[in-house]
Amino acid sequence: MHIEENISLKNYNTFGIDARARYFVEVSDKNELLEILSKPNYPEKLILGGGSNILLTADVEKLVVRIQIKGIELEAEDGSDVLVKAGAGENWHNFVLWALERGYGGLENLSLIPGNVGTAPIQNIGAYGVELKDVFESCEALEIATGKTRVFSREECRFGYRDSIFKREAKGKYIITAVTFRLRRTDHHIRIHYGAISQVLDQRGISEPGIKDISDAVISIRQSKLPDPRKIGNSGSFFKNPVISENTFKKILKHYPEAPSYPLPDNQVKIPAGWLIEQCGFKGKRFGAAGVHPQQALVLVNYGGATGREIWQLASRIREKVNEEFGVMLEPEVNVL
Ligand code: EPU
Repeated sequence: MHIEENISLKNYNTFGIDARARYFVEVSDKNELLEILSKPNYPEKLILGGGSNILLTADVEKLVVRIQIKGIELEAEDGSDVLVKAGAGENWHNFVLWALERGYGGLENLSLIPGNVGTAPIQNIGAYGVELKDVFESCEALEIATGKTRVFSREECRFGYRDSIFKREAKGKYIITAVTFRLRRTDHHIRIHYGAISQVLDQRGISEPGIKDISDAVISIRQSKLPDPRKIGNSGSFFKNPVISENTFKKILKHYPEAPSYPLPDNQVKIPAGWLIEQCGFKGKRFGAAGVHPQQALVLVNYGGATGREIWQLASRIREKVNEEFGVMLEPEVNVL
């Protein structure tokens, strides 16, 4: 374990922002992590996973700890279910492929999401009708203050839409080191109700899709509208889809009768932020090296050399305009540091 000084974080965040870390270290197991946590000469630490959900708006004057804890193991077989434990530092999509190769179902709709296994529960990643919570059994985390290991059950994680206890009460207090998933080895639950999946399957002439077909369809949909972070810096959806009251939505419908929405309980509706942003004329717009993706207005991109501040300025401009036009304040989905 080697602590480096003054290094660029460009290759460690999917936005490709060239911010610097005062100190930087990679840890590959729990013992190394404990050792680092106990180092008194580095009181302030920033824990980094796959770097796919952060916007660095300044240099980091802390010790950046990059979690590289690997390993995937079959923990137990339980009827048609299997319990699989994966290290926090495993790349998410590689883990999805690992499961698909063995015929374990549950992760296929979550194919190709950037990031690592250990950060997936923090924001309860979701796509194409499935959320992490649907396959989550438990996770193991180190309490930063005590170095003790704690296991969080699904209930304890209090998952919500792009939300969990790790964004609330437990924020900054724990480091997730491993996640256990409950997957299915037989009788897979095939979920194709999310519009575009069934269209793609129809186009391919697949009437009885298996989990691999779903994964392939999701991959092609994502590739058609979401930019590949290895080519164009981005962090997926920059904002959450806002949840508003039916009354606010009715006011929007007066001016925009075609406004899309998803009904929720308690007289609330969720509207796609991408639609709001597109209506405000930002889709495909570019401001220097920062821009709004031409295929999906919810994704802000770094065309090369943008600073985190420039991306954040664009985000702020979008928030102001959307608020002015629709009376809705968009909240970032990414962590703005
Ligand atoms: N839309 C537009 N213009 C746009 C983009 C979207 O009008 O530029 C409208 C369309 O009406 C479209 C609807 O928004 O039908 C939904 O768009 P899409 O299916 O692309 O999904 P989203 O709501 O924009 C969410 C997640 C994505 C996830 C997709 C698919 C959030 C914040 N984002 O996006 O997650 O891949 O659904 O399930 O919930 C991520 O979190 O990084 C992410 C990419």
